Amino acid sequence: MSDRCPSLSEHLMTQLVGLHGVLGRSDHRAATGMLADVLGPAGQRSLDEPGQWFSDVADDGTPLEFSLAFDHAKEPTLRLLTEAVGADPGKYANQLAALACLDSWRDRYHLSTERLDRVRDLFLPDDNQGLFSMWLSLVFRSSGLPRVKVYFDPEAQGPHRAGDLVAEGLRRMGLGAAYPTLLAHTGRPDRVGGDRFSFFALDLHEDSASRVKVYVSHRDGTADDAVLAARAVPGVDDDEVREFVAEIGGPGPFDSRPLISSYTFVDGDTDRPSGYSLYIPIRAYVADDAVARRRVGRLLDRYGYDASLLDAAIAVLTDRSLSSGSGLIAHVSLRFGAGVPGVTMYLSSEAYAVAPPRPDAEALVALSDGGGRRRVDA
Ligand code: TRP
Repeated sequence: MSDRCPSLSEHLMTQLVGLHGVLGRSDHRAATGMLADVLGPAGQRSLDEPGQWFSDVADDGTPLEFSLAFDHAKEPTLRLLTEAVGADPGKYANQLAALACLDSWRDRYHLSTERLDRVRDLFLPDDNQGLFSMWLSLVFRSSGLPRVKVYFDPEAQGPHRAGDLVAEGLRRMGLGAAYPTLLAHTGRPDRVGGDRFSFFALDLHEDSASRVKVYVSHRDGTADDAVLAARAVPGVDDDEVREFVAEIGGPGPFDSRPLISSYTFVDGDTDRPSGYSLYIPIRAYVADDAVARRRVGRLLDRYGYDASLLDAAIAVLTDRSLSSGSGLIAHVSLRFGAGVPGVTMYLSSEAYAVAPPRPDAEALVALSDGGGRRRVDA
């Protein structure tokens, strides 16, 4: 091996191929080809040059985050959340780059942009005021074509318009009656930060007639906010939500990075969503990744999932010790609904940087825990 610093593309491709190996999949051509499309010329830059675009997808600005989803009914799923990077990057250039990717994938992967076109004028104004204009999620299962989702920023026309955009976006998907349900379960007015709509997402697969997801961030939220949010969906057990929050996030308060709820709408839904997921930004509430790994291990055990796959994935992504940094495990989510919940772990590539351990994160949590000194990760 030479001492030359790898390019962004080399770094991410090695990880992507390694993750396919962990999942026992030998054919990674669709995934590596799509990643090359998404990175474009930005992929060729050496990692020792600063990236030209600091993406909010990951804390170190890498325009990609991996995730590994466990679900009893199926093989684990590998997903990439990405921001396509334009040649002269910026929100608008990146939007054009993302649309060009969709164009080039349309026939091969049976995508339809018809539903995207229905909401384009809402979420993709030329002078986008959100954090980003459009992200792509690429989903790889052990068989079948890759699936693609697009994410929009509801604040594309400014924060004050976010509710209107979500309401109108839902209406155009035939889900207008669901908006009041979402409002009734979010946005508690008595809290300092308040809730905000953080993403509006569409599945672009031809056969997914109406898969829409709406995400709500609970700024300064508590487990109670998550419970209230979850009650928008029939059949979610309050205690299971609380247990997940405590096990992964600790006792709170969740006043650093927010807890995030997502609602999933499928064919046949009208006035309420049929799926609920809760995302916990675990990295903000642990001292380091070793603590995060222990917490996630307990969750996986409890639901009967194989934690050794997570360890193998981590070993592909990094050779640092878990206690030497934080944020490799960025979020953990639980999907509630029928049957055993699905668990997803969001894993950083750490292409540009490793965040240092943050012993203060836990110290603060421990102190706020009834004033006691009990360690929350014990
Ligand atoms: N980095 C952003 C955040 O942490 C966006 C993001 C990336 C995100 N992956 C996510 C948000 C998973 C929720 C869940 O907020």
